[in-house]
Amino acid sequence: MAISHLYTLFFLFFFSIIKSHVSEQENTPITRFQRYLQFKTTHPNPNYTAPITFLINQSKSLNLTSRTIEFVSNKPVLIITWIGSNPKLPSILLNSHLDSVPAESEKWIYPPFSAHYDSNNGNIYARGAQDDKCIGVQYLEAIRYLKSKGFVPIRTVHVSYVPEEEIGGFDGMCKFANSLEFSELNVGFAMDEGQANLGDEFRVFYADRTPWEVVIRAVGEPGHGAKLYDNGAMENLMKSVEMVSKFRESQFDFVKAGKAANSEVVSVNPVYMKAGTVSSNGDVMMNMQPSEAEVGYDLRLPPMADPDVMKKRIAEEWAPAIRNMTYTIKEKGMLRDHLGRLIMTPANDSNPWWSIFKQAVEATGEKLAKPEILASTTDARYIRALGIPLFGFSPMKNTPILLHDHNEFLKDTVFMKGIEVYESIISALSSYEGVTDQVI
Ligand SMILES: *[C@@H]1O[C@H](CO)[C@@H](O)[C@H](O)[C@H]1NC(C)=O
Ligand SMILES: *[C@@H]1O[C@H](CO)[C@@H](O)[C@H](O)[C@H]1NC(C)=O
Ligand SMILES: *[C@@H]1O[C@H](CO)[C@@H](O)[C@H](O)[C@H]1NC(C)=O
Ligand SMILES: *[C@@H]1O[C@H](CO)[C@@H](O)[C@H](O)[C@H]1NC(C)=O
Ligand SMILES: *[C@@H]1O[C@H](CO)[C@@H](O)[C@H](O)[C@H]1NC(C)=O
Ligand SMILES: [Zn+2]
Repeated sequence: MAISHLYTLFFLFFFSIIKSHVSEQENTPITRFQRYLQFKTTHPNPNYTAPITFLINQSKSLNLTSRTIEFVSNKPVLIITWIGSNPKLPSILLNSHLDSVPAESEKWIYPPFSAHYDSNNGNIYARGAQDDKCIGVQYLEAIRYLKSKGFVPIRTVHVSYVPEEEIGGFDGMCKFANSLEFSELNVGFAMDEGQANLGDEFRVFYADRTPWEVVIRAVGEPGHGAKLYDNGAMENLMKSVEMVSKFRESQFDFVKAGKAANSEVVSVNPVYMKAGTVSSNGDVMMNMQPSEAEVGYDLRLPPMADPDVMKKRIAEEWAPAIRNMTYTIKEKGMLRDHLGRLIMTPANDSNPWWSIFKQAVEATGEKLAKPEILASTTDARYIRALGIPLFGFSPMKNTPILLHDHNEFLKDTVFMKGIEVYESIISALSSYEGVTDQVI
């Protein structure tokens, strides 16, 4: 009896230690990160209400001003502002997106919205941990530290949170970047998401590739499966597919030979093929050559690619009218800005923002990897297209690249180091009093 009582006391004591430990931790950068990760902002039905309320509350606790703009209803853009001592200077914009891709819960070791903290290795598991809720919280935490040290920015700093990035940003950053509200922010330099690196350096991105959705269609006389004849739809399409495959190989050869990075060539990958005559029982008629056939490609162009040359190639080689072929190209972004310039931000000392950014990262004892073009596409393209210099950067080193993957996680120490890095970056960028005109 006495012994079991002792046990009970012991457990109560032990439990209270755990409890006080948890409550002590209740309001730290890590727990605020966990809370932000727990909002389900995944497609297809992201609800932005709760995370926006959370972020506005954070901005209030920092004495920052905030406002929400709905260019499309239920798809809010949040702008948190730290006014500089010289608000006439072009401002600094720190962007991240609110939404995430879906997660297949059953394939995760912890539920993807639990933001489970594994105390054995310090990893925080959640959809969005790397892409890109980490930076959304780190920006504010860096500002929190800077404020606590009495730092006052010279340039105004805006922190923006946008919806719909994962489905192209058309109702998010695209509308925001092209709005009057955006031009009134007078942004001189911006930052947006980057990617993790397994190595010991931070990656930085100075351009995105531009995606095109290309569909090629062929028509021809239908015929019996046993008949040999010229110019059937399938034959015409297969000729094109061969041409595309040859082009794809030529691009890939550069990469394989180490002459270019994956993101520096044009990639063209088949994503679907559609042909065949279906009978009433749903089976394809195996003795029938169809009268129509089509193939869809995901094409990605690096900023220096010439869109007119690419279009000519598609029109003349991949889908020549002379073979009765047609095509459509859906351009999901621009390759040149309104002045005809390449949409990329110089990542060398010709661009003062580059030097400031690089030095600020190095001041924290960290190193940058060689600047890269991002192989995929982010909201950054809408801002760069305005002629505003922008670097894509998420300070995650010694971290496997898990964006859109199962068991996406970020380690606590990497997250905390990132805050320190942003402290340095934000203080350096916002203190820059030099050229006020936009650089590109
Ligand atoms: C979104 O979530 C909020 C609570 O956070 C709820 O009040 C609202 O009805 C939700 N909206 C939709 C469209 O489900
Ligand atoms: C708002 O912030 C305060 C102070 O940081 C915190 O105590 C409170 O729980 C927060 N409320 C919400 C709804 O996040
Ligand atoms: C916000 O303002 C209040 C009142 O002026 C002040 O007590 C508090 O320390 C400020 N907080 C921050 C983070 O600046
Ligand atoms: C294109 O279509 C026309 C009219 O149907 C046909 O006469 C011609 O042979 C076709 N050419 C090719 C290359 O398929
Ligand atoms: C800096 O980069 C830009 C764009 O990549 C390039 O055109 C320019 O020549 C570079 N300048 C120097 C000094 O390296
Ligand atoms: Zn992202």
